Amino acid sequence: MSERLLIRPVREDERADWEPLWAGYLKFYKATIAPETTDVTWKRFHDDNEPMYVLGAYVDGKLTGIVHYLFHRSCWTVGNYCYLQDLFVFEGARGHGAGRALIEAVYERAKAAGASRVHWLTQNDNAQARILYDQVADNSGFMQYRKIF
Ligand SMILES: CC(C)(COP(=O)(O)OP(=O)(O)OC[C@H]1O[C@@H](n2cnc3c(N)ncnc32)[C@H](O)[C@@H]1OP(=O)(O)O)[C@@H](O)C(=O)NCCC(=O)NCCS
Repeated sequence: MSERLLIRPVREDERADWEPLWAGYLKFYKATIAPETTDVTWKRFHDDNEPMYVLGAYVDGKLTGIVHYLFHRSCWTVGNYCYLQDLFVFEGARGHGAGRALIEAVYERAKAAGASRVHWLTQNDNAQARILYDQVADNSGFMQYRKIF
């Protein structure tokens, strides 16, 4: 598959292709968000003044996977960290390297932007994702606490 796989930013005119992947990801997490939030998120991906980005995995020209990432300040470094927030590949396209290629593309862009770290969260029981994550990164051992307002 790798010859047919291309990772590139998802263009502003490709929202209709991106939206089913975003919906699939939200469904995976049994999450619902307001349509206005999706509108703002999509706009931010394509606003040069916003530190949020979207990359797509294209297999034979068809968008089959997405990753969203953003840069943020850190008290521990002069440069930014990169937070990989969302990663999703269509079910029928999994296991062929798209997820790995998306993560590695974020690594490249984070390095190019001067970030010293890419980090992300996953659920302890997400065994499928963790097969991949254990190959491409280290488990930090930190737990996440959360207070929702
Ligand atoms: C996690 C996810 C993005 C991985 O995408 P992917 O394209 O399957 O990833 P890859 O093919 O690069 O790697 C999957 C690894 O899982 C294993 N795998 C093998 N067959 C597989 C299959 N049919 N399906 C899934 N994983 C498989 C392989 O070990 C593979 O590693 P390899 O490169 O050594 O072969 C995808 O499973 C997904 O969208 N899951 C649902 C959403 C999710 O969990 N997102 C992450 C939240 S933190």
